[in-house]
Amino acid sequence: MASLFQIEEYIYYWITSFNKYKIHSPFVYKLVTEVFEKELHYKDFERIEQLRDELRRNDTIIEVVDLGAGSKSFRKTKKVYQRKISKIARKSVKKEKYGHLLYMLVRYFKANSILELGTSLGITTAYLGSAHPNTRVITIEGSESIAKIAQDNFDKLNLKNIQLVVGNFDDKLQQICDERKQFDLVFIDGNHRELPTIDYFKTVVPYCHNDTVLLFDDIHWSEEMQEAWEYVKNHERVTLTIDIFEMGIVFLRTEFRQKQHMQITY
Ligand SMILES: C[S@@+](CC[C@H](N)C(=O)[O-])C[C@H]1O[C@@H](n2cnc3c(N)ncnc32)[C@H](O)[C@@H]1O
Repeated sequence: MASLFQIEEYIYYWITSFNKYKIHSPFVYKLVTEVFEKELHYKDFERIEQLRDELRRNDTIIEVVDLGAGSKSFRKTKKVYQRKISKIARKSVKKEKYGHLLYMLVRYFKANSILELGTSLGITTAYLGSAHPNTRVITIEGSESIAKIAQDNFDKLNLKNIQLVVGNFDDKLQQICDERKQFDLVFIDGNHRELPTIDYFKTVVPYCHNDTVLLFDDIHWSEEMQEAWEYVKNHERVTLTIDIFEMGIVFLRTEFRQKQHMQITY
């Protein structure tokens, strides 16, 4: 259930966000009309959503290690707890609409080298990996039991372009950045706390080029996440941000001379 903080934030977003008719930037207008508003249907969507349905019906209990801020509805004092796969599929995985958005963004920006922090059951990773045969996705998950299910899902979908790294972001991220050298798209969706989120951003940003797109999940999930989002917005390399409430989209393009922050209805 949404917290009072989230409800207030949503109301504010709803009042202050605007639709494409108020957008002056040709880059953003094109993005909205060609990505946000496009309701294309791909066979990949069906295969992935079928798998999501199976996971939502799977009541097997697994032991989960929580390395992040955890789900608010499941937060426990202890770091290892039992969870049904069905509940993880319902609570922790991004909804279909956002899977479609990520898929479309990968295609639109022709992103080849993709990094995801927070694999969970691999549903969103599957969208990232299916969008284009040339994409190479590297995704990090800290909980071994969850990662095992994600790997099974990639195998079921025959996605061979996804490399799953099991471990804490804190231990794995720098090494992955050094190995991959450059990312075209980065999706940060794990450990929803202020300082770790800022640290992950600071670690990956030197490996981002002019056209890299960064996405931050749950930017209005808590005050901490909102603070992290403010930090990102104010960073010297950030030239444009788009807040669609569930996610924040970040661009570093130097051709945008004036920093711009937009809240767009999605
Ligand atoms: C919100 S879920 C990711 C959802 C996924 N991106 C999707 O939409 O399908 C966040 C995941 O990040 C993992 N996680 C959180 N903190 C972590 C950390 N510090 N290191 C590694 N994994 C972490 C959790 O175990 C959890 O599975």
